[in-house]
Amino acid sequence: MKVTIVGAGNVGATCADVISYRGIASEVVLLDIKEGFAEGKAMDISQCATTTGFNTRVVGSTNDYTKTAGSDVVVITSGIPRKPGMTREELIGINAGIVKGVAENVLKHSPDAIIVVVSNPMDTMTYLTLKATGLPKNRIIGMGGALDSSRFKYYLSKALNKPSNDVDGMVIGGHGDTTMIPLTRLASYCGTPVSTYLSQEEMDKVAADTMVGGATLTGLLGTSAWYAPGASVAYLVDSILNDQRKMIPCSVLLEGEYGQNDICLGVPCIIGKNGIESIVDVKLNDAEKALFAKSADAVRAMNGDLKSVLV
Ligand code: NAI
Ligand code: 2OP
Repeated sequence: MKVTIVGAGNVGATCADVISYRGIASEVVLLDIKEGFAEGKAMDISQCATTTGFNTRVVGSTNDYTKTAGSDVVVITSGIPRKPGMTREELIGINAGIVKGVAENVLKHSPDAIIVVVSNPMDTMTYLTLKATGLPKNRIIGMGGALDSSRFKYYLSKALNKPSNDVDGMVIGGHGDTTMIPLTRLASYCGTPVSTYLSQEEMDKVAADTMVGGATLTGLLGTSAWYAPGASVAYLVDSILNDQRKMIPCSVLLEGEYGQNDICLGVPCIIGKNGIESIVDVKLNDAEKALFAKSADAVRAMNGDLKSVLV
């Protein structure tokens, strides 16, 4: 089983590292445009094989897509972060050009691959990849909800003072500070509602902390996070390659589900060997439905900035 990761930066290389040491794939190709960068990351990761004990072959490539041929899954993390003075539209224009070009190149060599989109703004880049490639919706998956849900569970565990793995919860909606929706009402601790232990005020704080979870890390690190993002992508890739059929919130084309059309947005999905196997219809209450509609409006407005790229 072969995975290509385009963009050997912080998130891409961490993802390659986790996929390797957990033995999720037999081969990982890291590709980047920076001369020698992906080769260096691949060599560094490969040199962990005997100490952490894995057999995954990790290959680096400077923009040579022939090395990616026959990939089962392709992860796109290439892009640039927003720079001072740059408008959102300019960022979208640059990243959209990168993501579209990358998707076209990988498909020339791996026509059957499932594509996982990570580059930001992720929901918009997922929509772009879908429109630009014309692939069926099950093969284009935006990763954001897996990460946001892991942050939600982290903040829940802190508030409850209980182990993270005893906590469950899910974040849907857009992958953005104001567009994501932590579903506090459905969150649980060992099968019991968290509302048994936390006040409304405490649950609201958990939701608010989750929503700015990425921004908090960017403030601390000076750039966006990579350990949890890379691990979240690996978790998603594992469910695809090993047909685990885990339920993971992912950005996917909605065609009437959750009352939305012609938009990629985070909803719970069953993830297996065909990518998106199905979308799970979780019954939202009226307040959650309103938040979902508001999130869709914001992401749809951002998708409008793709006009020049999608012609
Ligand atoms: P980074 O700057 O460390 O890595 C990006 C890499 O992409 C660089 O090495 C760069 O040389 C490469 N690149 C740029 N254009 C390329 C092209 N045309 N072909 C191949 N490689 C190319 O950035 P980092 O931290 O790894 O983040 C990557 C992206 O993922 C960003 O857009 C970031 O905002 C996003 N992100 C998304 C998350 C999510 O949950 N969806 C979570 C964390 C980051
Ligand atoms: C994150 O959530 C910025 O999307 C990136 O860490």
